Order: sequence, then C-alpha cells, then structure tokens
Amino acid sequence: MNISQQISTTPFLDQKPGTSGLRKAVTVFQQPHYLENFIQSIFDSLEDLQGQTLVLGGDGRYYNRQAIQIILKMAAANGVGRIKVGQGGILSTPATSCIIRKYQALGGIILSASHNPGGPDGDFGVKYNISNGGPAPEKVTEAIYARTKVIDRYQIIEAPDVDLETLGESRMGDMVIEVIDSVEDYEKLMESLFDFDRIRQLLTSGNFRMCMDTLHAVAGPYAHAIFEQRLGAPAGTVRSGIPLEDFGGGHPDPNLVYAHELVDILYGENAPDFGAASDGDGDRNMILGRKFFVTPSDSLAVLAANAKLVPGYSSGLAGVARSMPTSEAVDRVAAQIGIECYETPTGWKFFGNLLDADKATLCGEESFGTGSNHVREKDGLWAVLFWLNILAVRQQSVEQIVREHWKTYGRNYYSRHDYEGVDTDQANTLMENLRSLVPTLKGKQFGNYQVEYGDDFSYTDPIDGSVSNKQGIRIGFTDGSRIVVRLSGTGTQGATLRIYLESYEPDPAKHDLDTQQALASLITLADQIGQIRNSIGREQPTVIT
Ligand code: G6P
Ligand code: ZN
Repeated sequence: MNISQQISTTPFLDQKPGTSGLRKAVTVFQQPHYLENFIQSIFDSLEDLQGQTLVLGGDGRYYNRQAIQIILKMAAANGVGRIKVGQGGILSTPATSCIIRKYQALGGIILSASHNPGGPDGDFGVKYNISNGGPAPEKVTEAIYARTKVIDRYQIIEAPDVDLETLGESRMGDMVIEVIDSVEDYEKLMESLFDFDRIRQLLTSGNFRMCMDTLHAVAGPYAHAIFEQRLGAPAGTVRSGIPLEDFGGGHPDPNLVYAHELVDILYGENAPDFGAASDGDGDRNMILGRKFFVTPSDSLAVLAANAKLVPGYSSGLAGVARSMPTSEAVDRVAAQIGIECYETPTGWKFFGNLLDADKATLCGEESFGTGSNHVREKDGLWAVLFWLNILAVRQQSVEQIVREHWKTYGRNYYSRHDYEGVDTDQANTLMENLRSLVPTLKGKQFGNYQVEYGDDFSYTDPIDGSVSNKQGIRIGFTDGSRIVVRLSGTGTQGATLRIYLESYEPDPAKHDLDTQQALASLITLADQIGQIRNSIGREQPTVIT
C-alpha cells in the first residue's frame, strides 16, 4: 500500500508562467517544495482531475528524470487515473501534443525550458498543455499562478521510483503508469500527412543530401527514427542526435548563431542540399539550403504557397496565422490565394482557438516556429518533412524555390536585433516612452519613410473575444516597412529587448541584397525613434538573426 501524504508548504512568489510555462534556473527548481508547489497548483486548478489521463515527458535536460519521479508520485496522490510517460522521460513538445489529442487526455505536463541551455547551471521549465494539445491559455495559467500565491500544502505518495526505461504498464496506488515509446504515435501522424514514399525516393536517390542537427536535444530520437530508419537517409544524416542533459554544453536554439556547426556545413565545401536544426524540446526549426538561409517568416510563406503539393494539405488551407512580429510575407500569399491571414500576439497559445475553430490551418512565428492544425504546438520535424515533401515534388533546390517565391510575391527583408540581459527598469522605461510616443507618429516623415500607423498591439481573439493588450509596439510605414519593439516573455535574466525590422521589396532586381544592408536605414531609424542604444547603454545588439 502506498501512503499518500499531505506536506505543508509556503508559497513562492515568483511562479508566474511566462510566454511558455514556468522557466527558471535549475537551482531555483531544486529548492525544497519549489517544483511540488507549482505542480500542486496545476492540479488544484484543474476541475475534473479525478481518474483522468495525463501525458508526461520532457526534453531530457538536467533534472528531467528527478522531476518526473516527483510528478508521478504527486499525480498518484491527487487522484489521476493514468499517466502516459515517455520512455526515459523523453517526449518532444509536439509529440506530447499529438499524444494528448490522440488519446483524449485531460492534458499534459512538459518539462522543458525549450532552447535555453541545460545542465546544473542551466534552466529548467514546466508547461501545462490542455486537452486540445496546446499550451494552457492565459485563463488557465492565471488560475495556476493565483494558486501558487496561496498554496499551503501538497499531496504526494510515498513510493519507490518508477522504471522509466521499460515499456509497459505498472501501478502506483490507484494510478496506472504507462511507459510509452516516445516516437511511435508521432511518427504515425507524420506518415498520415506527408508523402513518405516520395521523400524516401528523394533521400535515397543519390543526388540529394541532407543534414539534420538536433543539437543533442529531444528531437534526436525522432529524427533518427524518421529520417534514417524510416525514410532511408544514410546513417550520419542526423548530427548530435543523442539527447544530453546539458545539450553537450551548447545552446539548443536553431538559429544562425547557435546552430553554427550546421551553418558551417551548409556554407562549406561540398555542402549538402538541405540542412535543418531543431531546438531543446523539438518544436522549433531552422531551414537551410546549400549556402542559403530561409528566414522563418519566409519559410511559413513558402509552406503556405506550396501546401497543395503535400497530401495532408492538398485540399487547401482554411486560413493562415502569424505572430505580430513575424514578417508579412505570408500575408501576401494569403491575399493571393484568397484566404484569411490572422495576426496574433507572440506565443503559440494564441493560435489554439484559430486552429480549433478551423480558421487557420498553418501558423508560424519569426522565432523559428512553424506548425499546423495536426497538433496544437509548433513542430520542428513537421516543418522539415514539409520542406522535404515540397523538394521531392518540385525537384528544385531550396534557393530556387525561395527565389521563385520572391519573384511572385516580392521579398520581405527581415531581421531581429536582440539586446539580452538589459536592466529591467531601463527596458521598461524605454517601452513606456515608446508607448506614449507612437500615437503621435502617424503621418510623420522620417527621410524616405512616412509613418502609416503606430500603436501598442492589442489582440481580440475572434473566437472567445478575450483581449490581450500591450503586446508590442508597431510602427508601420507607407512602403510596407515595419519596426516592431517588444520585450521577450521567455528570458530568465534581466530583460531581453527585441527589435524586429522588415522592409518590402517587389523588384526582383533588388532581391540579392545583404539583409542588414537592405535594412540599414530602417535600423538607424528604429534607434532614432526608440532612443534604443541610449536608453539601455548598449552599442550593439547581443544577437542578430
Ligand atoms: C517560445 C514560444 C513562442 C515565442 C517564443 C519567443 O518559443 O513558444 O511562441 O514566439 O518563445 O518568445 P519571446 O517572448 O521570447 O519573444
Ligand atoms: Zn522549444
């Protein structure tokens, strides 16, 4: 008999979930009762937990296994009926979403700090996803947060640790624990969407080579199983494919800065035709051609424009959605196809209602996230398979496909400048100043640029009518250029200021410029209007993507 215990505790006042769950340094999570308080607050906010099914897994980072053992014992004490847990504690974020949906679970707990570094000195995180498979909406995260502020006890069962390696069922108290294959359900879903035969032909044809870097994070086992074992790509196609607790000391973020080994390969001698990377929990992706980088905003637009070539989307798209700072490239595709394009705040959770209501089929964000209504999270490997499917059908290079796209729709030059670790007060003051300035900008001329509108983005969800204010400063110009300024909701140290820059170029003769050069005057203007470098005392952005 397992004994359920009530443990007294006191609240931690810093358990407010951010853009993507609660993310803190591992050392913060290791404080006595810290994880337990947050998990109990999740359980307490769920109305009908008794006897229900939950899904549990994580990206394999340091503290993943310990946290899983604690959560299993708490779930059993809280009356959960069944928990499906990924083998070895491994489940990617999109796979978790897939499994929640497939087995109609009440929800899932994902242990990940996404692309933040891992290890004893790195970060850890907890996200709760609801029954549609998507991130908990604000209503739910606010209830969880409210609970963390008053919590005074949690429940846990005294039981030995569970063997997470062996597939199959066991019991803890009245709860069934099912250790599941981390990849199987997800792989079946991918097979139902993409033309695996055609992709296999491409990958085994001998005249196409790809390289997938999973950065020692969770997507490794999925990529091995799908690309190498299933689709016939040669062994070694997947790099850094074994999940490590500290991601091999790297930063598991698929962008030009952190996935530089892959970038070196794709820009080096004898480069492969196609390169891709994914992040800590497998929901982000970066797409590269030979000596060619596809911006996430362009990637979304290309997927939308070519969706009919892919079996899962051959009947067309209901609509598309992008986060506000994402470039307007996809808007142009939507306009041409004659479908709606929704502009949402940053954060995948805002796509949930649009996907559920079948208003949008594809969604994407500039932050290297792309996905569709197949799950309710962005999905890194899905994006890679989508590209492979397009490449297999069109038999052109990545670069040719993107250049043709620009010719048809025009090119949205795009870049994001991040200032990381900024003093929080200085960052807030900068935003306050901008917020009061933007309404006065309309009609003003700055060199060649005339301001068409300026606001602090506010979003009214078309399905449930909920309103999200203060989602970032937008300054739009009459030539289609935009400057967007917002503070990151995912950083863990100080504030991260993000400046998003975009200019539109319809003329194919001007599609060959270096991005930073093409945006140079807009970059200067952003600094002039926002007094950015002055206000935060920085000369240069920390990261330019
Ligand atoms: C996570 C979220 C995304 C979001 C990204 C950047 O990956 O899932 O939806 O776009 O963080 O958010 P941030 O607030 O740091 O710009
Ligand atoms: Zn992620």
